[in-house]
Amino acid sequence: MGTGSETVSIEAVDTETLLAELVGQVVDIWANAHGLGRASATRREFGGDRVPRHAGREGFRFLGAFGPAARLVGFAYGYSGAPGQWWYDKVAAAIDAKQRRRWLEVPHFELTEIAVDPAHQDRGIGTRLHDALLEDQPHDRALLSALADNARVIRFYEDRGWRVLLPRLRFEQGRPLFAILGKELRG
Ligand SMILES: CC(C)(COP(=O)(O)OP(=O)(O)OC[C@H]1O[C@@H](n2cnc3c(N)ncnc32)[C@H](O)[C@@H]1OP(=O)(O)O)[C@@H](O)C(=O)NCCC(=O)NCCS
Repeated sequence: MGTGSETVSIEAVDTETLLAELVGQVVDIWANAHGLGRASATRREFGGDRVPRHAGREGFRFLGAFGPAARLVGFAYGYSGAPGQWWYDKVAAAIDAKQRRRWLEVPHFELTEIAVDPAHQDRGIGTRLHDALLEDQPHDRALLSALADNARVIRFYEDRGWRVLLPRLRFEQGRPLFAILGKELRG
């Protein structure tokens, strides 16, 4: 555990800096937050393929939470959802037509990842990342998926204005169930 008194600043990171300098730390935080081991294939796929692919998308926004000595302790990112993207197409096929029109077929931000290093959790960093990422978005709506059986993380989002649109969706055979949540970004 850290000291609790350290200062953490939330800063936007441009794509070039992210991919050239920060992606190693991003993978470490993501893997630690999700309890993945060093040799995990998912871990390699995340840093080598997923983050670079997402970083090329329209509306990509990445925020880092930096502790002392500019060390990354958390991050959040997302982009504008659009047809043809794997996540969009899976969700579009699973939700009913009314929800699809209301949430998916309008310009929206997809909150793709938010993770805080376990040693720094429960100190408000995740909330700061969440709020800053959604601030000044050009879209009226945001969407995300979260592990359906992780009641704590679902509550984290519900407490911050998200609501469950679809409680259980299996993106792929053999993978856990996810809940799809949406949030109105304008009051
Ligand atoms: C969810 C997460 C980003 C929150 O960041 P944080 O800095 O710990 O959050 P804050 O201190 O701002 O807010 C505290 C709230 O976060 C949630 N939270 C804290 N630790 C958590 C954990 N290990 N797993 C799930 N939720 C957690 C709880 O809702 C908590 O509220 P509570 O104290 O009333 O239960 C962070 O805990 C994390 O990285 N968890 C693991 C990765 C993950 O599940 N990411 C979301 C993918 S959909």
